[in-house]
Amino acid sequence: MPDVVETIAGLRSQLRLARVDAVSGGLGRPRVALVPTMGALHDGHLALVERAKERAEIVVVSIFVNPLQFGPSEDLALYPRTVESDVERLAAHGVQIVFAPTVGEIYPGGDLQTKITAGDIGSLYEGRSRRGHFDGVLTVVAKLLNIVRPDTVVFGEKDAQQVFLVKRMIADLNVDVDVAAVTTVREDDGLALSSRNRFLDPKQRRAARSLSIALEAASSSADRGIDSVIAAAQSVLTGDSTIELDYLAVVDPTTFLPVDDGAHGRALVLIAARVGETRLIDNVTVYLA
Ligand code: PAJ
Repeated sequence: MPDVVETIAGLRSQLRLARVDAVSGGLGRPRVALVPTMGALHDGHLALVERAKERAEIVVVSIFVNPLQFGPSEDLALYPRTVESDVERLAAHGVQIVFAPTVGEIYPGGDLQTKITAGDIGSLYEGRSRRGHFDGVLTVVAKLLNIVRPDTVVFGEKDAQQVFLVKRMIADLNVDVDVAAVTTVREDDGLALSSRNRFLDPKQRRAARSLSIALEAASSSADRGIDSVIAAAQSVLTGDSTIELDYLAVVDPTTFLPVDDGAHGRALVLIAARVGETRLIDNVTVYLA
């Protein structure tokens, strides 16, 4: 079983021990990879762990449901917490260190005086619907990077705006870490795995398929330009009253700004929708002709 550490001091001493082990095992300076998560782990998270293992000899997975990234009307209290089974799954994947701090360990004085702001892009799409969300994400990611000091940090492309903003923070603040981004892991019918999928009842679960179907429709219309992309996705979504679309956007992956009419080349189609009380997001890369 991996060592589950709750304190920053404990994490640092586990890392020291793991480094000593690696050096005495003749591995030279071991690399460290961090996989930040909020737990309730599924195969998407485990794909991140596998990527981390390719990149580093020591893998740290953090499990921390970060209050700072939840709005007042969001599901912080309801967010699934399954640490015991998470640790078992991580053990089966050979993870050596699990960092599962308490809220008090990460925010000892309650609120912080100093926070990271995600800037203009942080208030678009997810950030428009979830005010302050990305400030909270970037602040906790910055703290985790400073606590673990990994060589590589691994994120999932499912949260495309999150990856974009983390990369920007790392560049803007000259943080010395590589970022790896892993392709979205999906159910057989296309639904992107998410810790929140467990809240869907059978009818909602069937309806949730429409997100990835809409993205597939968008992708196969890309050779007819951006208007066709949007129309194709919308026609899938409007057919289903169980789904309430929050936003559908086509963005330039290098700037995360909406692409102009008549744009060509690689673009990202972002989607967010509410299925009952559950908010789901997904995205796909398309090639506009
Ligand atoms: P969480 O939602 O637990 O996700 C942790 C990581 O798993 C993120 O990088 C996310 O993009 C990735 N992930 C989730 N579903 C995935 C899927 N189906 N395929 C591949 N990767 C997937 O994202 C967060 O936590 C938090 O914002 C965090 C970064 C931990 C900061 O609190």
